[in-house]
Amino acid sequence: MKSFLRILGFVTPFRFTLIVAIFFAVLFSLSNGLTIYTIVPIFDTLTEEQPFRFEISESLITEEGTGIAGQVRAGIEGIKIRINRHLAGMSRREILITVSLLIIPLILLRGLFDFISRVLFFHAGNSAVLGIRRELFAHLIRLPYHYFHRSRSGEILSRINRDVIPLSTAVSNEIYHFFSGFMILITNITILIFINWKLILFILILAPLMALPIGFFGNLVKRFTRKIQEGFADISSHLNETITGIKVIKSFAMEHFENDAFGAINNRIFSRELRRRVYQNLNPGVVEFLGALAGIALFLVGGYQIIRGELSSGEFIFFMLLVLNLFEPLKQIASAINGTQAGEAAANRIYQILDYPVEPLEKGREGTYEEGIAFRDVSFSFGHGFSLANINIPIPKGKQIALVGPSGSGKSTIVNFIPGFYLPEEGEILIDRLNTKTLSLSWLRERSAMVTQEIYLFNGTVLENITCGKPYTMDKVIEAARIAHAHEFISRLPEGYHTPIGERGMLLSGGERQRITIARALFSNPEILLFDEATSSLDYESEKLIQDSLEYLFKTRTSVIISHRLSTIQSADIIYLIDSGRIVDSGSHQELIARCEIYRRLFEQ
Ligand SMILES: Nc1ncnc2c1ncn2[C@@H]1O[C@H](COP(=O)(O)OP(=O)(O)OP(=O)(O)O)[C@@H](O)[C@H]1O
Ligand SMILES: [Mg+2]
Repeated sequence: MKSFLRILGFVTPFRFTLIVAIFFAVLFSLSNGLTIYTIVPIFDTLTEEQPFRFEISESLITEEGTGIAGQVRAGIEGIKIRINRHLAGMSRREILITVSLLIIPLILLRGLFDFISRVLFFHAGNSAVLGIRRELFAHLIRLPYHYFHRSRSGEILSRINRDVIPLSTAVSNEIYHFFSGFMILITNITILIFINWKLILFILILAPLMALPIGFFGNLVKRFTRKIQEGFADISSHLNETITGIKVIKSFAMEHFENDAFGAINNRIFSRELRRRVYQNLNPGVVEFLGALAGIALFLVGGYQIIRGELSSGEFIFFMLLVLNLFEPLKQIASAINGTQAGEAAANRIYQILDYPVEPLEKGREGTYEEGIAFRDVSFSFGHGFSLANINIPIPKGKQIALVGPSGSGKSTIVNFIPGFYLPEEGEILIDRLNTKTLSLSWLRERSAMVTQEIYLFNGTVLENITCGKPYTMDKVIEAARIAHAHEFISRLPEGYHTPIGERGMLLSGGERQRITIARALFSNPEILLFDEATSSLDYESEKLIQDSLEYLFKTRTSVIISHRLSTIQSADIIYLIDSGRIVDSGSHQELIARCEIYRRLFEQ
């Protein structure tokens, strides 16, 4: 229940709505009791020797009630006496018609109160759900980079989509079920105690017995809900992998394989869903059965009281109706408990994200950038074999550094330290001799722009993809695009810079996409440029074209370039050769060619 109670914290901003909703639930339960009560005058008038009259307790009127409770009771007795006087002047038929007609406005009011409280509960609940979803996204986007490596993207998607749904039903429906059920229960039991406390004693003894199966099935439902959620995460993951990898799947003729895998996941969810439904539906059935047993016991005891003249038949029927009327709220409360248990599972999973610490973007101070960056004895590991050891790289301001090395040697990992995507386990990264750990991440990230081998374009226009939400002038955008040699093809697009490029830039060629990401980096005009195989999807010709502009850019700011192409790195001030997470050599192209075997081999192919 802990996580679910925490989730309920999202309702607190809407507590006023909730209080009004509860108020209407109280009105609903009172009008409900009153509606049922009309059976007493009708029935007694028809069956008893003397037409229906309220019983007046003499002691109360003479005592002239003390305190508020006393006054209220005296007031009620006064009303009863007045009604009795009216009744005395009416025939049985007139009483019958009057009371029957009275039921119409009562039912209408009852319906109206119920409607208002439902809508208000729903409003409060769903506003809370909106808040949860917003908070979850805001949190997610601030989680550190490494979080996204550890979690499957399908799982993250499923938490936001699938887990928020049971939560939203739990929060909006179950709050309603719980409170409205609770109110009816309280009102009915109070009335029942007034009519006949002996009879109600039975119910109070039987109630805890009913709670046992509710708890038992609730636990089962909870367990299967969790399993179903996990199944949906598998589906999302699988879909995500299939869609992003559709090319590979098709070219390796893996359709059958993928189909079977997907079918297996689906079947698993089906059987879990089925079992959850079974337990969920058994629960109200069991409650109802126990309720019926209680009803039979009441018939016996109540009937006996009628025979002894302690109870009028109208009162007994009213009593029975009220007791029957307890089942609905009991069922509601049971379903609320089931629902909150489902909600608890979802809430747990949501809190696994919400409790994961976010990057402290604003924490730390702003630094300066005058001298440059330095890696000092940096060591780091991913925890499964690969590690960087003793990386020492000075990157003076305005210099051009290149990293080369075989695939998987750790080049991208090194570059990822500069914008603070990873933090070194040992050693430090300095900017103007300040440890980057003490600097604010947002300051750090504003200094640098990264273009990587994985191209990320979002579903928007070319312009939006270049400016990334920053203020811009068209001149600046075009200038960046020109340097990246993107202006030409962008101008040829149907709507120029305002052309939507489709999800992940599907409508552009690989090289065009790459050039847009380069334009994006250039537009942000950072002091530090990080190029991680940024030109790898360009053909030789296009690369040649932008080479000059890039070279000019690299010369005018600090840059770290990773490339497999000799032409790109040749002019670097220093080239570092990385192998298996270590720097094996460094120097200019000429020096390395002359003395380093690995380096020669890298560029011989
Ligand atoms: N997020 C991660 N979690 C675990 N291991 C990782 C992660 N990222 C990279 N690695 C591992 O770290 C090693 C270095 O990866 P890195 O991406 O730095 O190599 P690289 O030199 O850039 O290679 P390439 O030239 O192919 O891009 C690899 O063995 C890789 O498997
Ligand atoms: Mg890499």
